[in-house]
Amino acid sequence: MEKPEKLIIDGKRLDGRAPEEMRPLKIEAGVLKRADGSAYVELGENKVLAAVYGPREMHPRHLQRPDTAVLRCRYNMAPFSVEERKRPGPDRRSVEISKVTRQALEPVLFLELYPRSVIDIFIEVLQADAGTRTAGITAAAVALADAGIPMRDLVSSVAVGKIDDMIVLDLTKEEDQWGTTDMPVAIVPRKKLVSLLQMDGNLTEEEFKRALDLAFRGCEQIYQAQRQALKEKYAIKPEGE
Ligand code: CDP
Repeated sequence: MEKPEKLIIDGKRLDGRAPEEMRPLKIEAGVLKRADGSAYVELGENKVLAAVYGPREMHPRHLQRPDTAVLRCRYNMAPFSVEERKRPGPDRRSVEISKVTRQALEPVLFLELYPRSVIDIFIEVLQADAGTRTAGITAAAVALADAGIPMRDLVSSVAVGKIDDMIVLDLTKEEDQWGTTDMPVAIVPRKKLVSLLQMDGNLTEEEFKRALDLAFRGCEQIYQAQRQALKEKYAIKPEGE
C-alpha cells in the first residue's frame, strides 16, 4: 500500500473516526467448548481468539515450581491473518508479544495458589489490522475469568499513538505503518496500574502524558465491554428465556 498524503483530513481519520474514537468493539466470552475458558474479540478489522487451560499439573515436571503456578502464553498469527501470508510458527515478534502478554496478565492472577501447576493461554490472531497484541490481552483476560480462575481484576488493553502530529486512540494498520508513534498499553483498571507499555517511535513528555491519559480512557471503554461480555454469559436468566 502506498503512503497516503495525510492520515487526518478535516479532523477525521481515513476511516472516518475522530482522533479519540475507538474502532467498533465486540467481545464474546466462552466461545470454545473444549477450553476451560475462552473469548473472542473483534476490534475493527481485528479478529482474535483466546483459549485458557488450567490451572493443571505442569508437565514436564522439571518445569514445575514448588511455590507457584507458571503462566504460559502463546501469541500466534494465522498465515491468512495478514495481507502477505505469514509463515506459520513462532518468530521473533510472536515470542516478544507472548512474553509481554504474560507480563501484562500476571499481576491480576494469584499464581501462588497453585503450586506445581501451569495456566496456559493461547492467543490466535485470525485477522490482523494493528493492535493485535492489545486485542489479545483483552481477550485473554476475559478467557481467564471465563475459566473461573480467581483474579484481582480484568486487564484492558488498547494502543494509542501519534499520526500527523495528533495523538489518537486505537491505530489501524495504515496509521501504525505511516504514523509517527505506536504505543500499546494495558491497564489493570480498578488499581489504575499499567501492566504493559511499549513504544515504537517517540513522543515528547507532554505528548506522552496525553497519550497515556487517552489510553486510560480507551481502556475504560474496553473494561466495560469485557464486563458486559462476562455478564451476558453468566447472568442468571429468568426461567423460560
Ligand atoms: O498487531 P500489533 O499492532 O500489536 O503489532 P505490530 O507488530 O505493531 O503489528 C502491526 C500490524 O502489522 C499487525 O496487526 C498486522 O496487521 C501487521 N503485520 C503484518 O501484516 N505482517 C506481519 N508479519 C506482522 C504484522
